[in-house]
Amino acid sequence: MDDARSQELFLEVFLALPRQGPGNRATAKQALGLCTGLPNAPRILDLGCGTGGQSFLLAELTGGTVTAVDILPAAVQRLSERAAEAGLQDRVTGLVGDIANLRLEPESFDLVWSEGAFYNLGIPPSLQASRRFLKPGGWLAFSDCVYRSSDPPAEVRATFDVEYPTMGTAETVNALVAAGGFEPAGRFTLPDEAWEEDFYVPMRLRIDELKRQYAADSEALGVLDAIAQEPAGYPELSRHVAYEFFVARRSD
Ligand SMILES: C[S@@+](CC[C@H](N)C(=O)[O-])C[C@H]1O[C@@H](n2cnc3c(N)ncnc32)[C@H](O)[C@@H]1O
Repeated sequence: MDDARSQELFLEVFLALPRQGPGNRATAKQALGLCTGLPNAPRILDLGCGTGGQSFLLAELTGGTVTAVDILPAAVQRLSERAAEAGLQDRVTGLVGDIANLRLEPESFDLVWSEGAFYNLGIPPSLQASRRFLKPGGWLAFSDCVYRSSDPPAEVRATFDVEYPTMGTAETVNALVAAGGFEPAGRFTLPDEAWEEDFYVPMRLRIDELKRQYAADSEALGVLDAIAQEPAGYPELSRHVAYEFFVARRSD
């Protein structure tokens, strides 16, 4: 099967999910709770928003407005449809853009949020971009994939070296946060249910649905089986790898 068709199937799975990475309402609330002194109706920038799983939660939990950015036009289109369906189009605005190169007003947001997206650019450039758009004293909350120890098994490291060669531990990421012009305020590891409820459970259901739809297409079934390996492998992988939420305040 050519790469374009595999990518299409990948999007058919992922864009139909409530979110495209681990996280849920409880973890968003926990991270928000660390952002003390946010103004009423804060201005929020959600980087790598996907179809907006956390963007809508943030609008609801803070009463604020969310500018939700993703590099993938189809994800932003789905987010905009969801915003209209929820009557939130005035408070959640989708924007197609690259975190590394955003044309937004500097120092104009009270809170920069990002779940599971910083690994694409790496932590230091993502921190730099976040800092640029935060008001002085503004808050940053992001989740990222980390190793649970500094010496993960070689086969685990080899898997992540392909897509995320600079992946570290929670401690090394926290040190980068502190070195990047932020005061770390707290961090926590996402619990298993934050992977299951809104991410892996809907993913398995969606894969089963597409397998029925493509029952006569053996190549499509092969791609779907390959995608299904991620949730299937989670119990073993999670012994070595976790998602950590980091919360920090712009330090000047
Ligand atoms: C793992 S998904 C997480 C999506 C969403 N935050 C969630 O948790 O449901 C990562 C998202 O980051 C987006 N992304 C990757 N690189 C990006 C970049 N340079 N600028 C903006 N978005 C990016 C991807 O398109 C994808 O939607």
